[in-house]
Amino acid sequence: EKGGFASFMDKEIHDQPQAVADTLLGRFDLEGRLTLDDMRIDESLLKSIDKIVVIACGTAAYAGQVARYAIEHWCRIPTEVELAHEFRYRDPVVNEKTLIVAISQSGETMDTLMAVRHAREQGAKVIAICNTYGSSIPRESDAVLYTHAGPEIAVASTKAFLSQIVACYLLGLYLAQLRGNKYRDEIETVIRELQEIPAKIQRLLDEDKQQVVDLAAKYKDTQSVLFLGRHVGYPVAMEGALKLKELAYIHAEGFAAGELKHGPIALIDEGQMVFIIVPSKNGRDSLHAKVVSNIQEVRARGANTIVIAEEGDEEVRQYASEVIFVPQTATLLAPLLATVPLQVFAMELATDKGLDVDQPRNLAKSVTVE
Ligand code: BG6
Repeated sequence: EKGGFASFMDKEIHDQPQAVADTLLGRFDLEGRLTLDDMRIDESLLKSIDKIVVIACGTAAYAGQVARYAIEHWCRIPTEVELAHEFRYRDPVVNEKTLIVAISQSGETMDTLMAVRHAREQGAKVIAICNTYGSSIPRESDAVLYTHAGPEIAVASTKAFLSQIVACYLLGLYLAQLRGNKYRDEIETVIRELQEIPAKIQRLLDEDKQQVVDLAAKYKDTQSVLFLGRHVGYPVAMEGALKLKELAYIHAEGFAAGELKHGPIALIDEGQMVFIIVPSKNGRDSLHAKVVSNIQEVRARGANTIVIAEEGDEEVRQYASEVIFVPQTATLLAPLLATVPLQVFAMELATDKGLDVDQPRNLAKSVTVE
């Protein structure tokens, strides 16, 4: 059932082109209008919401962070992302005009379920983004957008994460269409670019995997790894660090690249391994330039800089110990590609250390206690 792969994790990483394609399948009608499954919320109500709060735990919460950049940009609806357990116990301000988006692979995470219940008691509507049909969170929500990643067996999430991000984009595009389509051209481009993502992930797996396998072997004994990202690269950095903690039991931290000089730069020492996720240059020159200067800052202090950048971004080479190039796409969609080498790196490094990548110590696939 591992389909010839060494582990479920390996298989699930390679399932990602399909998982993304399946999550996109059948969502658009002939006029290019989006349709969502199990939409039991009146569209007039969705037009009038004035705030979105995304709640989730773990990897799903990082998918939520990506969602925030996309939804705020396309829909101009204030969007917050919060860990479900923090949301639940801080007396949050939610009401009939709040839309809650609860993201959960299993649909059984107790912290997220409790937060859903709490929000509904305050009158908020809840849309669940979930990978498991008929599980508790979708059953207790007002609408569901299913990710079609297929069963995810490995404890640490990979293909569910990418599918959650895709589902969030779909929701954002749907709301943007519903509320007047201000960025019509951009949205059409994004929809087109989304369709190309599965083939790009496949190309990444075919062409870059060996480079990442070699990188993991080279850094097998490293004690600490830092990840820097900006904009949508920030949640990617957080997810890269989480994968490494979960699978390889290595101390790893993700930072917003802009925070570097406000503290984390003190950690940089000779030989410190730092991954830097560089945003596309396309249309966002200032963002790109800022991250490039972050690479220089850590490099000047002796860091080994592993740079994830878009194909064609030759400028970064001179500052990088190593560059992993990923295919070009729309800025907001970049996490669907930039995450993949980080997943592979964590899996390979853990494998090199002789660890069980499917069942890391102390972790459970779904945490059904608060
Ligand atoms: C953790 C899993 O226990 O729960 C993570 O190990 C997952 O992989 C998190 O991201 C949230 O789970 P779910 O099912 O709510 O997405």
